[in-house]
Amino acid sequence: MTKRFEGKTVVVTGGSDGIGLATAKAFAAEGAQVYVTGRRQDRLDEAVADIGFGAVGVQGDVGNPDDLDRLYARILQNHGRLDVVFANAGISETAALGDIADTHLDRVMTTNIKGTVHTVQKALPLMTSGGSVILAGSVAGSMGFGALSIYSATKAAIRSFARTWTTDLKARGIRVNVVSPGMVKTPAMQTYLAANAGAEDAMTQMIPFGRMGDSEDVAKAVLFLASDAASYLAGHELFVDGGVMAV
Ligand SMILES: NC(=O)c1ccc[n+]([C@@H]2O[C@H](COP(=O)([O-])OP(=O)(O)OC[C@H]3O[C@@H](n4cnc5c(N)ncnc54)[C@H](OP(=O)(O)O)[C@@H]3O)[C@@H](O)[C@H]2O)c1
Repeated sequence: MTKRFEGKTVVVTGGSDGIGLATAKAFAAEGAQVYVTGRRQDRLDEAVADIGFGAVGVQGDVGNPDDLDRLYARILQNHGRLDVVFANAGISETAALGDIADTHLDRVMTTNIKGTVHTVQKALPLMTSGGSVILAGSVAGSMGFGALSIYSATKAAIRSFARTWTTDLKARGIRVNVVSPGMVKTPAMQTYLAANAGAEDAMTQMIPFGRMGDSEDVAKAVLFLASDAASYLAGHELFVDGGVMAV
C-alpha cells in the first residue's frame, strides 16, 4: 500500500499522549518523519518508543516560545523543511463565571492561544507550498458547556485563526484547517470523568453515535486534512464528534 506521507516531515505538539500520540503514530505508520513535543520528558520518551519509525521527541512547552525555537532549529538542521504541523497541545480546565481567576485565564490562554499562535508562526519559515497546518479546536468552541467559558473561548479563537490564516497564507499555498473533536477518551478526558460521577453517561447520551470517540478517530481526520485528498479544503472546521454538531 502507498504510504501517503513518505518523505514528509510532520510536527505534532502535545504528541506524547491522547489525540496527539495517536496522530503521531498514524503519520509515522504512513511514512512521515514525525517530531513530537510534550512537557514531561519521561512521558515523551515512552511515546517516542511507542511511535517507532524513527520518531523524534523534543521536550517543550508550547507556551514558551524558546522551546518552539529549539524544536524548529532542530528540524531546520535535520531536514531543512517542514510539511505538516498539527498544533494539538491544549489544556482544559473548568471555572464557572464568578470563579474565574487570573491564574486560570493565564494558564488556559497561554497554552491554547499563545501556544497555537507561536507553534504556527514559528513553523512558517520552514514551510513551502503544499504545506498543511491543522489546529486542534473543539465542539466546545461552538457550544455552551457549563464552567468552560475560557477553554471554549480559546477554541472559538482557534476556529477564527483558521479563517484569517487561510487568507494570510494564500499566496504561499499553505492550507490551514481545524479538527474539532467531540468527547474523546484521552487521559485528559479520563481524569475529568473520574472526578465527575455520571458525566460519561450524560456525554454518551448527547452523542448520536452512542459512544465517546477514540483518539484514533481524530487521528484519521487529521491525516485526511493533511493529505492530498483535502487539497481544496482550507479554513474549514471538521467536527469529529459522532454527529453531535451535525444532527
Ligand atoms: N479529549 C477530548 O475529548 C477533546 C475534545 C475536544 C478537543 N480536544 C483537544 O484536543 C487536544 C488534545 O487533547 P487530549 O484530550 O489528547 O489531551 P491529553 O490527553 O491531556 O494530552 C495532551 C498532550 O499534550 C501535551 N501538552 C499539554 N500541555 C502542553 C504544553 N503546554 N506544551 C506542550 N505539550 C503539552 C501533554 O503532555 P505533557 O502534559 O507532558 O505536556 C500530552 O502529550 C487539545 O487541544 C484538546 O483541547 C480534546
